[in-house]
This record gives sequence, C-alpha cells and structure tokens, in this order.
Amino acid sequence: MEVLKQRILQEGVVISDQVLKLDGLLNHQIDPALTMEMGREFAARFRESGVTRVITVESSGIPVAFAAAHELGVPLVFARRKKTLLADPDAYCERVPSFTKGIVTDIMVSREYIHENDRILFIDDIIANGDAARGVIKIIERSGAELVGFGVVVEKCFQAGARTIREQGIPVEALVRIRSLNDGTVQFDDNEM
Ligand code: G4P
Ligand code: NA
Ligand code: NA
Repeated sequence: MEVLKQRILQEGVVISDQVLKLDGLLNHQIDPALTMEMGREFAARFRESGVTRVITVESSGIPVAFAAAHELGVPLVFARRKKTLLADPDAYCERVPSFTKGIVTDIMVSREYIHENDRILFIDDIIANGDAARGVIKIIERSGAELVGFGVVVEKCFQAGARTIREQGIPVEALVRIRSLNDGTVQFDDNEM
C-alpha cells in the first residue's frame, strides 16, 4: 500500500534494528481517513472469504480492525488483556509474552462472542515474533471457529511471526512489509504478500 509506505517514511522513527516507532499513525495517534483506507484494503483482500467476524487484540489493533469490520459489514471482537487471570469458565484465555514490553500478559475472549460456526478474520497492527498472534489463533482454534485469514498493517519480515503463521497454512496479508531497519533506515520488501 503505497500511501502507507510514504506515511511510514515520513512519521516512523527507527528506534533500533528491531523496533520502528509508529506512534503517529498506529500506536498513539490515529488518522481516521488513512485507517479507513486500510480497512477497505483488508476488506478487498478478504471479500471472498465469507467473514462473519473480525477479531483483534486491544489496543492498537482496534482502529484498523474496526475499519475492516465496518467495510465487511460484520462485528469486531477485540481480545482483552488482563493483568490477573481469574479462571473464567465463560472465556477463552491464553498467556502471551510481549516483545516490546518484556512482560507476560493474558488475553481473553468471552465464549459469547466467538462461535464454532464463525469464519474469522484476524487483524492486527504490527507483527514481530507473533506471540500475541499465536495466542489469538489458539483461542480461535479452541472455539472451533474457522480462521480464514490474518491481515496485518506492518509485517517485520526479519522477525519470524508472519512466516510462522503462513507455514501453518493461514493466509496472511500485509499492507506493508519491512525487510530491514538496519542503520536507522526503513527498507521495504516489495514482494507484496
Ligand atoms: P508479536 O505479537 O508479533 O509477538 O508482537 P510482540 O509480542 O513481539 O510485540 C508486542 C507488542 O509490541 C505488540 O503491541 C506489537 O504490536 C508491538 N511491536 C512489536 N514490534 C514493534 C515495532 O517494531 N514497532 C511498534 N510500534 N510496535 C511493535 P501490543 O503489545 O499488542 O500493544 P498495543 O500496541 O496493542 O497496545
Ligand atoms: Na502494537
Ligand atoms: Na497489536
């Protein structure tokens, strides 16, 4: 998505060889028009998949997942993060480590909002190692619903998350793929996937 590449070049801040700060468009400030455009792009890529629900994880996945869900005309469910996990028989829970925060969190989805006959599109903002994504995928598997695909705004190709998910046979669509952040420079991978 060319417009997104330009915005990343303008507003992204390379923090290290591993981390690109995107507060100006994903993680702190939201551009509604750009976000709706991202939602339209995801909807176009998954239009034929018979999606019945979109799922994401709070907090930064929510705007773009909302945009995609709106465009597809289906509900959006966001997995919630819990600091302490009381065993809840009415919810699916998974424990996930966090790459940037260096902590472990629990994510939770109520059984009320994910059904075994659902066809689910998972949307997220950034994929690095894919720990949070794997947690969401496990929850979908446990529910008996079908995961029809994973749409991510930014794929960091030099970390294994997206590749691992593709290897599981799940269709992964990235709006922008970043090959490297070495030497303070964002290098895109132009093989659109
Ligand atoms: P993973 O899901 O790919 O494993 O992500 P990981 O656990 O490695 O990363 C945890 C958090 O860090 C995620 O946000 C993820 O989006 C974010 N993250 C990873 N790499 C980068 C990066 O290079 N730039 C930015 N801006 N974020 C990165 P989160 O914990 O879900 O928090 P939130 O943003 O939803 O609040
Ligand atoms: Na994030
Ligand atoms: Na996220």
